[in-house]
Amino acid sequence: MKEESNANRLEPGHCGIVKLRKVGIIGLGHVGAHVLCDLVNQGIADEIVLIDIDREKAECEAMDINASMAYMPSRIKVYAGTYGDIGDADVLVNASGKISLSAASNDRTNEMRYTVAAAREIAPQVKASGFNGIFLNISNPCDVITSYMARELGLPKGHVFGTGTGLDTARLLFRLSHDSGVDARSITAYMFGEHGNAQFAPLSLVSFRGKPLAEMAKTNSKLNYSQDDISKAVIQDAWTVVSAKHCTEYGIAATAARMIKIVLGDERSIMPASAMLEGEYGESGVFAGVPCLLGAGGVEEVCELPLTKAEWEMFHQCCESIRNNIALAEEM
Ligand code: 2OP
Repeated sequence: MKEESNANRLEPGHCGIVKLRKVGIIGLGHVGAHVLCDLVNQGIADEIVLIDIDREKAECEAMDINASMAYMPSRIKVYAGTYGDIGDADVLVNASGKISLSAASNDRTNEMRYTVAAAREIAPQVKASGFNGIFLNISNPCDVITSYMARELGLPKGHVFGTGTGLDTARLLFRLSHDSGVDARSITAYMFGEHGNAQFAPLSLVSFRGKPLAEMAKTNSKLNYSQDDISKAVIQDAWTVVSAKHCTEYGIAATAARMIKIVLGDERSIMPASAMLEGEYGESGVFAGVPCLLGAGGVEEVCELPLTKAEWEMFHQCCESIRNNIALAEEM
């Protein structure tokens, strides 16, 4: 094949008039690698840059996923890179973490011992790269690290957000689907607040395409949940998995991949994410898991739904818990 002359070469990120979708993943542990796998399996990006403190690990993840490319729905360019490669990325994912720290006491705040230091390493390098896209944080404690990243990166409002209770909501939806026999995609339900042990399920918001949970429960006693019990069960789902397989990966990867797909396709879909509150739900200056309208602009709107008085109070307790953890992270 003849070599292309430089004059005919396209700017990076463009193919003719088509804008290629570029994603960067920072941290190639279980979670980062599964996000990569979901993006490739679903053909969500055109180019994916992998960054890890262990360069060889990133290179081998690229090599391994490239060995699957012949059987994937589309050709995606995947390679191990540096922060110099992500300045023009559309979406950047922070998947750095050390789940063993959380697992020791089933509490994600313990992971701060690793993730706060990692975030302090990552943020200046992302900033120096000139990155100006959407930053999706997975790193735990999710609301705390998202808050730190948002402050340090100084990107426009909504451009930094976290997977937050998006994952926990998928766990809740699975339980509701299992007990009702209705497909999760026909159910509206959310976990609210902290992606942590303070989160809760506002049952007043649960509906089956408009039919309230209380109505469904009249003919199906399995749906007679107490808010406390179902919330605790969803919280425990994470720790049950972690105790046996020493990580969680499928649920979080699917959550992140869905969010990235929404952003890259400007789908304007509503799903829960860790978003900055500025007066919504009576809270300000804190990131917490709430239903959000997601699109090309990241969190384009926080959706305020009517909570009962008790749910409203629980949400404030969650926000207090997140604030306390943010203060702890600052002291580290
Ligand atoms: C999860 O909820 C541990 O944050 C991780 O799966």
